Amino acid sequence: MNLSIAIRNRRSIRRYKQKPVDDKLLLELIDVARLAPSGGNMQQLRYVVVRTPEVVQKLFAHTGWGGHVRPKRSPEWGKSAPLAFIAVIASADNVSTHKIVYADAGAAIQNMLLKAVELGLGTCWIGNFKEENVSPILGLTPEMKTMYLVAVGYPDETPVQEDIDTGTPTKYFLDDKDVIHVPKFKVDAITIWK
Ligand SMILES: Cc1cc2nc3c(=O)[nH]c(=O)nc-3n(C[C@H](O)[C@H](O)[C@H](O)COP(=O)(O)O)c2cc1C
Repeated sequence: MNLSIAIRNRRSIRRYKQKPVDDKLLLELIDVARLAPSGGNMQQLRYVVVRTPEVVQKLFAHTGWGGHVRPKRSPEWGKSAPLAFIAVIASADNVSTHKIVYADAGAAIQNMLLKAVELGLGTCWIGNFKEENVSPILGLTPEMKTMYLVAVGYPDETPVQEDIDTGTPTKYFLDDKDVIHVPKFKVDAITIWK
């Protein structure tokens, strides 16, 4: 798939088909995460792939979804919830002292989100969870911290993006056909030339 198309088509997905994702595809996502830039090429991130239904369910119970369209786009376990998560992990020391690891996580996650589009998968970057609830489920030692979760599954919705001017509300919203609209600032509205 052409990269520009993947970038434009990627949307956060909050409704998933109840079809498992093959381990091979999940590994392909980690494989592109590892190729992302990292500060000093230190490669401090680790990944936990969760696809065993009981563990996915436990994690899912601690995640928050679609704050602007709640509760309509809060996935339901067994109906519209993702069938896998990839947890992005760093050592707690690095997370508290090195803000660079957040940039590393962003670069790695974006690679995964775009690759997922190519693979026909949907994703949602999840930051809405309490680390102390999630890391024990993943069996992490105390010095490891869950930075983010990436929900992965086959998409069962097609959100649309639309261009807006600055000053316009940025909250995503549901229309009367139950489609999510995601406003993004127009390029000219956010670019300064010198
Ligand atoms: C750091 C970060 C954390 C996020 N956390 C959540 C989350 O916990 N729950 C959720 O439903 N969406 C979450 N999102 C998705 C954003 O809501 C979404 O990216 C934004 O609304 C723009 O929509 P788009 O991804 O379709 O472009 C997160 C995104 C980022 C970058």
